[in-house]
Amino acid sequence: MSLLFEPGKIGNMELKNRFVRSATVELLCTEEGRVTDVYLKAYERLAKGGVALIIPGNYVVNPLGHNYPKAPTVDKDEVIEDLRRVVSVVHEHGAKIVGQLNHAGRQADPKLIGAKPVAPSPVRDKMSFVKPRQMTEDEIEKTINEFGEGARRVKEAGFDGVQIHAAHGYLINQFLSGYTNRRKDQWGGSIENRMRFLVEIFQAIRSRVGPEYPILVKINAEDFAKTGVHPEECVVHCKKLDELGIAAIEVSGGIAEKGLNTIKGDLPMELFLEGRGPVERLMVRMMEGSLKKSAAFEEGYFLSQAATVKRNVKVPVLAVGGMRTRKKMEEVLESGQADFISLCRPFIRQPNLVKLLERDDGDPISCTSCNHCSVEILFHKKSMRCYKT
Ligand SMILES: Cc1cc2nc3c(=O)[nH]c(=O)nc-3n(C[C@H](O)[C@H](O)[C@H](O)COP(=O)(O)O)c2cc1C
Repeated sequence: MSLLFEPGKIGNMELKNRFVRSATVELLCTEEGRVTDVYLKAYERLAKGGVALIIPGNYVVNPLGHNYPKAPTVDKDEVIEDLRRVVSVVHEHGAKIVGQLNHAGRQADPKLIGAKPVAPSPVRDKMSFVKPRQMTEDEIEKTINEFGEGARRVKEAGFDGVQIHAAHGYLINQFLSGYTNRRKDQWGGSIENRMRFLVEIFQAIRSRVGPEYPILVKINAEDFAKTGVHPEECVVHCKKLDELGIAAIEVSGGIAEKGLNTIKGDLPMELFLEGRGPVERLMVRMMEGSLKKSAAFEEGYFLSQAATVKRNVKVPVLAVGGMRTRKKMEEVLESGQADFISLCRPFIRQPNLVKLLERDDGDPISCTSCNHCSVEILFHKKSMRCYKT
């Protein structure tokens, strides 16, 4: 039997195969972040489709950390009842579910949060032009606790684990990165200091969820910024997390201001320009070349970085980013480059793709990474579905 369908384990979590649905912003909740029937249906469809582990789109730990509307915020106990309904539909169909915790920091949407976004340092984002406000030490401590409390709520709702979002240019990544973290206090400077925020978040979560509960992380191997996180630094981060007791590491890359490195594929330019004013259109046109370069696709575009992490840690590694063919996915598992295959865009198009792969010897994945979904969901804030025409 193909290794893809062999059971696997993350911490104490038994998984029926090696497929993970990587975290995906859905915009399927109400404006107030309440779970809807459409949201539940989307998760039921995924669970029925045979994937072993599902990671919903980031649950924000504080309203200041929102980057997308219509998503649950895990900052109050009332959210637990809603999340229980999500867990229930997923468990009913034999899949496991892990809640991703996030704070967008300087990548938060100012219109959505009604305030100036916060960050380790006031470094302007060259894509959104947002100049964030530097967090005080009190705010840093408070945010660490909010991640801990968010994890407690996710556990109380019955989730099988939590994933710390330390990738994609969001707040934790901003602390890790020398590009966005210019602090001179205990939270900045040396790699140990820049890592302190993540380490303390891990500890705040662990102290609330107990020693056995799986805590996963999604982390950047590369920010694609000159003084940002690079693979050697990422190995240091991952070794530390391994030592602390992380259950699994999903290796990704890219920050919003550096283009489409996270979601490589086509750049549907006309769609990307839709709804923008003349000045913005001109700016985007000027960046077209570098945006296209950042989007250049090759299958498994973070695989070499995942394999590097895998060689340096004891825990399972999830490969994410452009995995599209059965041959490649089998090769990854057989060669030991990673332990799980994590997919996002293919599941938007085909929530049942694991069943299709199980049934069929060929390559049923029809996602072409056209990025119509990315532009419509992430930029135009439309709800999750395949927008390929
Ligand atoms: C519409 C969309 C929403 C996403 N939302 C999240 C998210 O909430 N959290 C996260 O860690 N990554 C998010 N990602 C990134 C994916 O999880 C994944 O890392 C990336 O799409 C590469 O995988 P793929 O090539 O299989 O799509 C999102 C990507 C897309 C296209």
